[in-house]
Amino acid sequence: MTQASGAHRRIRKAVFPVAGLGTRFLPATKTVPKEMLPIIDRPLIQYAVDEAVEAGCDTLIFITNRYKHAVADYFDKAYELEQKLEKAGKQQQLEMVRNVLPDGVRAVFVTQAEALGLGHAVLCAKPIIGDEPFAVLLPDDLIWNRGDGALRQMADAAEASGASMIAVQDVPREQTGSYGIVATDAFEGRSGRIRAMVEKPKPEVAPSNLAVVGRYVLDPRIFDLLESTSPGAGGEIQLTDAIARLLDEKPVHAFRFQGTRFDCGTHIGLIEATIRYALDHEKLSDAAAQLMQSALKELGVLELD
Ligand code: UTP
Repeated sequence: MTQASGAHRRIRKAVFPVAGLGTRFLPATKTVPKEMLPIIDRPLIQYAVDEAVEAGCDTLIFITNRYKHAVADYFDKAYELEQKLEKAGKQQQLEMVRNVLPDGVRAVFVTQAEALGLGHAVLCAKPIIGDEPFAVLLPDDLIWNRGDGALRQMADAAEASGASMIAVQDVPREQTGSYGIVATDAFEGRSGRIRAMVEKPKPEVAPSNLAVVGRYVLDPRIFDLLESTSPGAGGEIQLTDAIARLLDEKPVHAFRFQGTRFDCGTHIGLIEATIRYALDHEKLSDAAAQLMQSALKELGVLELD
C-alpha cells in the first residue's frame, strides 16, 4: 500500500508558537513569558504540551525568542532540584518535576529572530516538520475537557478524512470582531468544510459566528504558502492569510471540538480558567468555593444567604 498523502497520516509533531511579546500581561511579561503564567500549579504551556502528547505527538517544537529562556529551562532537566527532592524523600514532587515531558517525547527549540507574526512563527518550524501533517497549539487558548482533549479529537478527524482541521467555537455575534470567522458547508458531525475565512469581521458582515481558536492540524503545503504570503496587518505574516489560500487547494475543515475554552491571553480569561480549575480540583474545590462565596459576600458583589 502506498503511503497516504497530506493529513491522512497521523500527526506526530506539534508546534507551539510562544515568541509573542505578551503585551496584555505587562508588566508581568517583562520577565515571565505569558505561557509560563500558572493555572493553579502548572504553567499554561504544560496544559498545551499534555494535550499534544495525549493526541499522539512525540516531537514538540517551541518557537521562542531570545528572551524566553524560561520556557526552555522549564522543559530542561533540573538536576539539582531533582537531587534535593530525592534526598528529602519528596517522591510525589520529584515525579511531577520529571514528568513535564514524558519519556519518548522530545522538545526542539527554534528561535524566531523577530516577532514577524504567527504565520512567520509557524514557518520557523518547517525544517523540523518536513513533509507531514502537523499540529499548531496556541497555549493561551486553554481547552478543558473531561474526555479526549481537543487536539486528539481533531487528530482523529484529520486522520480519518485527510483534511486539515481548524478548531472553532460558536461565539456571540457581537464578538466576531475579535476572531477569525469561517464560512463553511453544512456540518457533518463535528466538522464542516471551510469555504472562506475572514479576519475580525464586524458582526453585521460576519459570514457566521464560528470563531477560530488556537488549535490547528495543517497540511505541510501551508509552508510553501507561508513563504509566499506577504506581510499583512501590522507588517506581520498572518497564518490566516496562508490558510485562506490553502482552502483553494486542499480540504480544510472547521472542527467544533468538545470542551470549554478559556482565552488566557486576556486577564478575564485567565481569571475564569483559574476559578474553573480550582472548582474542579480534587483537593482545592471545597476551599475554593467557600473562599469565592465569602469574597462575594464581603465585597457585596452578590446577595448570598
Ligand atoms: P498574540 O496575538 O496573542 O500576541 O499571538 P502575543 O504577543 O502573544 O500577546 P499580546 O497580544 O501582545 O498580549 C498569538 C500567538 O502567536 C505567537 C504568540 O506567542 C501567541 O502564542 N506569536 C505571535 C509568535 O510566536 N510570534 C509572533 O511573531 C507573533
